Formats: sequence, structure tokens, C-alpha cells
Amino acid sequence: MTRILAIETSCDETAAAVVEDGRRILSNVVASQEELHAQYGGIFPEMASRAHVEAVVPVIEQAMQKAHLGFDDLDGVAVTYGPGLAGSLLVGVNVAKGLALGRGLPLVGINHLEAHLYAHWLETESEGAAEGELTFPLLALIVSGGHTELTLMHDHGQYEYLGGTLDDAAGEAFDKVGRLLGLDYPGGPAIEAAAQGGNPKAFDFPRAWLDDSRDFSFSGLKTAVLRVVQKYSDPPKGRLLADLSASFQTAVVDVLAAKTAQAAESFEVTAVLLSGGVSANQTLRSTTVERASVPVYYPPLFLCTDNAAMVGACAHHRFVAGDRAGWDLDVVPGLRLA
Ligand code: KG4
Ligand code: ZN
Repeated sequence: MTRILAIETSCDETAAAVVEDGRRILSNVVASQEELHAQYGGIFPEMASRAHVEAVVPVIEQAMQKAHLGFDDLDGVAVTYGPGLAGSLLVGVNVAKGLALGRGLPLVGINHLEAHLYAHWLETESEGAAEGELTFPLLALIVSGGHTELTLMHDHGQYEYLGGTLDDAAGEAFDKVGRLLGLDYPGGPAIEAAAQGGNPKAFDFPRAWLDDSRDFSFSGLKTAVLRVVQKYSDPPKGRLLADLSASFQTAVVDVLAAKTAQAAESFEVTAVLLSGGVSANQTLRSTTVERASVPVYYPPLFLCTDNAAMVGACAHHRFVAGDRAGWDLDVVPGLRLA
């Protein structure tokens, strides 16, 4: 059995969790900085790292208390070391090093993108969750605020990059368009809520198919929304806001779901794993389920957005494979999966 304390500070959530055997969540604490960054309409990196410094120790203490464990009950400490904001990553990595060194525990460095995939191995009993009943090869669509990529997972730790965004990440597109529409940060959940009751066909926004490649592009779509918004003097409201939100959301989802379904077929995978913050989107979930010929899994909402439980799940597999980080573990803001 392994019990790992996992720490995540790559972006704007300070999170700590204790995970048993990569499957059971003994505790999962997330301190979100959403309100702080909402004032600026996006993430303010310097503020993010300061907020991590303030929150990280109390968040770890809470995670240990909720798990009813002492540090002696742990087998290791895991931490996200990239990709993400350098100043934010540094906070988690240094705290994890200090704890591991002080308590004589092994340290495991985790890739944030890989961690998003491992949310699918956690036991949650929620609708749509795979809960680890998975057979390789798998196709992962990772859609977050910083990343959009289609990756084949051949085995634990074995990834093949199939394609990704050439400009904005899907979540970034939601966040930027949210701002254009006068909605609060983060734009994803705000647009999803505003789209309720809107007509997804009201505006025929462009889809970047990119000659059937497995890459994505969302900047043209963002500009198309901007053009419509510029026609009006005030931020859109009521029916117009709902129609714009629904049409934009459908344009993003259409391309994501179509390329994912197509790749699932080409590579004969056993299932699709929707991962990252944007996989919280119900339209993305239902459209991908509808179009793919294999089962499509999505974690419960609290495991889609940034959290440390997924880091702990990933760390279990790394830990049993003998992966250990040295005391020279450094942050890698541009870390990739494959
Ligand atoms: O994975 P995540 O929490 O952080 C990163 O690693 O980036 O993803 C955050 C992103 C934000 O861009 C946010 O707008 C988006 O996920 N997001 C959503 C939804 N919930 C969060 N996008 C669309 N629909 C949602 N319901
Ligand atoms: Zn993330």
C-alpha cells in the first residue's frame, strides 16, 4: 500500500491531498484564488505566487488532518514541477522538498498534464467516471486553461502526442471570450451558464478544421466573436449574450469532439479520457459521448479542474515504478507530456 501526500501549485489553486494506492482519496483540499484574479480578469502571476505562499502550509495541514494521518504514516511526498507558472510552481516544489527532507520521505516530481489524466484512476462513484477500469491504448483529450492536446496513452507513463493547439488553449479561448462578453473570470463556467437557453446556431462561428490534421486553433473564433461584440456599444445581455455564448461554446466543442472521435477510431483505442478544466463542460461531454464509437470518460467536476488528488494518483504509479526526484528537483514551466 502507498499513501502519498500530493501538493499542487502550478497555476491559481493551492491544493494538497492524501491518496492511497493511487485510487482512494483520503483528503483533497483546494484553496482557489479565483476571486483574487477575477478582479484582473485573468491570472496575475505575481499575485498567484504570493497567494500560494500564504495558503500552502494551512492547506497541507488540513489535508493531513482530514486524512487522519501523521507524517509517519506517509510513503512519500509528490509535487507538480511543471508545466505552469514558474513562481507558482516554485512554492509547491520548495515546500515539498522541505517536508520530504525534514520527514525523511521520498520525493516524487509530477507532470501536471499527466496528473490530469490520472484523475481517471481515482475512485469517485460519479456518473461518467472510469475509476481505473481502463485498458490501454487510451486516447486523452487534455483541455485546460494552458493546454489543448490529443495524446495516445499506450501504457502507464507512455505517451504519444497526436496534435495540439497552434494558438490559444481551449480554456484560454473560453476565458478570453468570457472577457469580451463582459463575464467574470474564469470564462469557461461563466459561458456555460450564460449559454443556457441560448441558440447554438444563432451565429455561424468559424471552425478551424486545419485540413483534417489533429491540431486545433481557436484564435480565429475569438476574433469572430469580437467582431460581433464590437457591433454593439455595451456588453451583450439577455438573449444576445445567451446566443453568443451558446454559439461560441458549440463551435469550440464541435471541433474538439470531432477530432477526438476521429482519432479514437483511427488509433483503435478502448476509451477516451476527457481531462483538464474544460472537461467540466457538459456540452463537451455529451457531444464527445455522442460522436465517439468507444466509451468516453470524464471525472467529476472537482477532479476536472486543478486539484492535488490527481497528482497523488499519478504519483502512485511513478512511485511504484521507482521514480524518485533528487533534492535538485527544479520547476519546468514548459514541461511536456510526450
Ligand atoms: O485544468 P484547469 O483547472 O487549470 C489549468 O491547468 O489550466 O483549467 C482551467 C480552465 C479555465 O480556462 C476555465 O475557464 C476552464 O478550465 N473551465 C471550463 C469549465 N470549467 C473550467 N471551460 C468550459 N466549461 C466549463 N464548465
Ligand atoms: Zn490543470
